[in-house]
Amino acid sequence: MTGTASHPLPAEAWELAAEWLPPNDDPERPQVTLSTVDVDGAPDARTVLLSSFDRDGFAFHTDAASRKVEQITARPLVALTVLWPGFTRQLVVRGRAETADDAALAGAYAARSPYLQQLAWLNSHEFAALPLDERRRRWDAFEREHADGFEQPAGWTGFVVRPTRLTFWVSAPDTASRRREWSLGPGGWAHEYRAG
Ligand SMILES: Cc1cc2nc3c(=O)[nH]c(=O)nc-3n(C[C@H](O)[C@H](O)[C@H](O)COP(=O)(O)O)c2cc1C
Repeated sequence: MTGTASHPLPAEAWELAAEWLPPNDDPERPQVTLSTVDVDGAPDARTVLLSSFDRDGFAFHTDAASRKVEQITARPLVALTVLWPGFTRQLVVRGRAETADDAALAGAYAARSPYLQQLAWLNSHEFAALPLDERRRRWDAFEREHADGFEQPAGWTGFVVRPTRLTFWVSAPDTASRRREWSLGPGGWAHEYRAG
């Protein structure tokens, strides 16, 4: 992953995250709600895949021309909500999104499926506006032209969210759900239990 975090996750929170989430080499990636705010302070949200995580942060990847990148560039404070597995566990990460370094970007692109690698090339508003038949025709043609594989497109980018707060929510069939929360303050990481 990228850069040097000044506040890596506390050991217990890191162990819990590693126990909850699939390992980075598992092709089944968790779906994450990425929440941002725009320049006017209005909220926005969408689903992304959690590409990887380590003790320094949680990484996702996207198109540099996307709305989320415009918002993060203006206001890098974001939240990630990971529901994994569904209905039983929720992890909410608040933090600052930092652009991933080149090596991490290349590794993440290489790890994407061929479909997602091609999507990164053809994911434009102009393409989206074409009739379905034409989108299929251009998709097939592009695939044939790149039978040897896809280079990383110039617009491929990604971020690592450096956590300032992690909230682990867990349900139980026979007692109340509850949350365990780690927050980063001036004195370092603090832990508390909260109602579900
Ligand atoms: C299950 C699922 C996974 C997705 N994964 C990603 C992803 O990893 N990266 C991405 O840029 N968009 C992903 N998308 C598309 C985004 O939700 C979103 O539509 C797109 O990135 C444009 O968002 P924006 O206009 O807010 O930037 C995914 C959508 C779904 C439903």
